[in-house]
Amino acid sequence: MFQNSYKGKVVLVTGHTGFKGSWLVTWLLKLGAKVIGVSKDIPTNPSMFESLDIEKKIFHNFIDIRDLEKLKGIISKYNPDFIFHLAAQAIVSKSYLNPVETVSSNVIGTMNILEALRFYKKKCITIIITSDKCYDNIEQSEGYKETDAIGGKDVYSGSKGAAELIIKSSSKSSKYSGNIDNIPIEIQYIRSKPCYMVAKSEEGLDRAHKKALDRLIHRG
Ligand SMILES: NC(=O)c1ccc[n+]([C@@H]2O[C@H](COP(=O)([O-])OP(=O)(O)OC[C@H]3O[C@@H](n4cnc5c(N)ncnc54)[C@H](O)[C@@H]3O)[C@@H](O)[C@H]2O)c1
Repeated sequence: MFQNSYKGKVVLVTGHTGFKGSWLVTWLLKLGAKVIGVSKDIPTNPSMFESLDIEKKIFHNFIDIRDLEKLKGIISKYNPDFIFHLAAQAIVSKSYLNPVETVSSNVIGTMNILEALRFYKKKCITIIITSDKCYDNIEQSEGYKETDAIGGKDVYSGSKGAAELIIKSSSKSSKYSGNIDNIPIEIQYIRSKPCYMVAKSEEGLDRAHKKALDRLIHRG
């Protein structure tokens, strides 16, 4: 289905050293993409990024997405056709300990991606990943839909809700929705519905599904 979409294309993945990012990079490489990675660190040990030796297969960069000038520099150096923006402080419990880092990485980091695109003179389809936790959790049993209220009871959820609002308002404002120098900019939303993710790492221990899996394995 995606065979021809990414073959020979330059794809920039932020958060490529993380759990989802390393899977995404592996898949993009199989589809023939030239992958550029941007992350600030390797967040887990063990890590799939290291186990699969991904660093040697892509153009790997350690950059903090809060640094707009460095982000612009990477984009103008590699000229991506696609950007997948996954980089974030992704752990809910860490958002209690490091709320400022959570908000700055997740909100300003997302704004910086949009701002860097504003100065980028090439068509670039950009997919920004937020979270199902962007929704105000009103404890309803059915899932949430895109017209439901944004909210959250912790700073991580709030940061993802804020990122959603920034993306939505930016895409509606004239500087993003129209053409800049006749170059169209497309921003696509993925509002994830809850799905099961299993992350095996010490850092990811507080991910609910990892805990559930551990309980199943250890209690039988
Ligand atoms: N894993 C899940 O269950 C889940 C669920 C919903 C949404 N998400 C979202 O998916 C994305 C990826 O999640 P994950 O589980 O792979 O996260 P992860 O913690 O495994 O990886 C986070 C990645 O972001 C990078 N990063 C963090 N702050 C950065 C910064 N300031 N500058 C540059 N890079 C930075 C890290 O270096 C790492 O590459 C995140 O946006 C997360 O919020 C994850």
